[in-house]
Amino acid sequence: MTADQTVPGLPASLGLDQADPALVDTITNGLTRVETVLRSVVQSDVDFVEQAALHLVKAGGKRFRPLFTLLSAQFGPDESTGTSDDVITAAAAVELVHLATLYHDDVMDEATMRRGAKSVNARWDNTIAILTGDFLFAHASGLVARLGSDAARIIAETMGELVTGQMRETVGPGPDDDAVRHYLSVIGQKTGSLIATSGRYGGMFSNAAPAHTEALHRFGDLIGTAFQISDDIIDIASPADESGKTPGTDLREGVKTLPMLYALAQDPDPRLAALLAGPITDDDDVDEALTLLRKSPGLEQAVRTLSDYADRARAELATLPPCSARDALDMLARYVVARTR
Ligand code: IPE
Ligand code: IPE
Ligand code: MG
Ligand code: MG
Repeated sequence: MTADQTVPGLPASLGLDQADPALVDTITNGLTRVETVLRSVVQSDVDFVEQAALHLVKAGGKRFRPLFTLLSAQFGPDESTGTSDDVITAAAAVELVHLATLYHDDVMDEATMRRGAKSVNARWDNTIAILTGDFLFAHASGLVARLGSDAARIIAETMGELVTGQMRETVGPGPDDDAVRHYLSVIGQKTGSLIATSGRYGGMFSNAAPAHTEALHRFGDLIGTAFQISDDIIDIASPADESGKTPGTDLREGVKTLPMLYALAQDPDPRLAALLAGPITDDDDVDEALTLLRKSPGLEQAVRTLSDYADRARAELATLPPCSARDALDMLARYVVARTR
């Protein structure tokens, strides 16, 4: 998250460098309040618990989900609803749920780097990472409880869907499943669901018209799916100093992401097919697979699928009233594609 800080005040530009400056100001102020909530809810009488929870809060990250919540909250009846306390609480809650999943995901993926810092499992150990993830889930639930039972039900369903996606990814497709369909459905669950809820919360807590809230929800689902495809492309194509994570983690875990599935379906280099047959443990083998994948037509095909999802997301914006926030959502969708370049 270093090369991307071009809009003053935002944690990362996320393609919003051309957005309306007044809107960027409003969103930046909102994100500052979200930051305050994040840091205060993870406080604990037990210093170590607080340090472990703050570790990745402080490491930063893009704050994509709270940003999307705040932009989605711009479709309410008047300006004041867009930055109400409930909107800020909702934006902080989705980031906390996301953060909790990252603590757990790094245990599952045996990852050593996150947000450009040491992952919690690497800095301490798996037990600490799992328990701190649970601690963050607990506090996310506490925040959402302030928003009423509808919000609590929605986040409970979202968390259920997210972990189902993580579980289905771990188990892999069945013998009769189409691998690409399985992949797309899994990433909709593990990543699309929470981003969809981020948009839905923004609409709900700014009192937007139900049809607009539904459009933001659908936009979030599609852009969230696109976001995971771009993350999977980045795992192959981008160096660690840009992503803040170790490239090739999916190869090491034996998770077949879209560029790999497409490469395998296209009469691949036999060496690449052999490498992709299972998890790769040897560093040189990971490097070799990355080199072959970067040259493979599968990578370009995955970028085309990514663009399709982003286009479908942008089409959802047509039902929203034209305004600077709608333009910014369009830019956000373009950013999700552009970040792989
Ligand atoms: C990483 O999410 C996990 C995915 C769902 C792809 P982000 O790329 O939003 O991670 P941070 O919050 O910026 O660290
Ligand atoms: C995990 O996907 C997404 C969730 C945390 C739900 P990845 O395993 O690709 O995420 P990164 O690349 O570690 O951030
Ligand atoms: Mg991971
Ligand atoms: Mg990844």
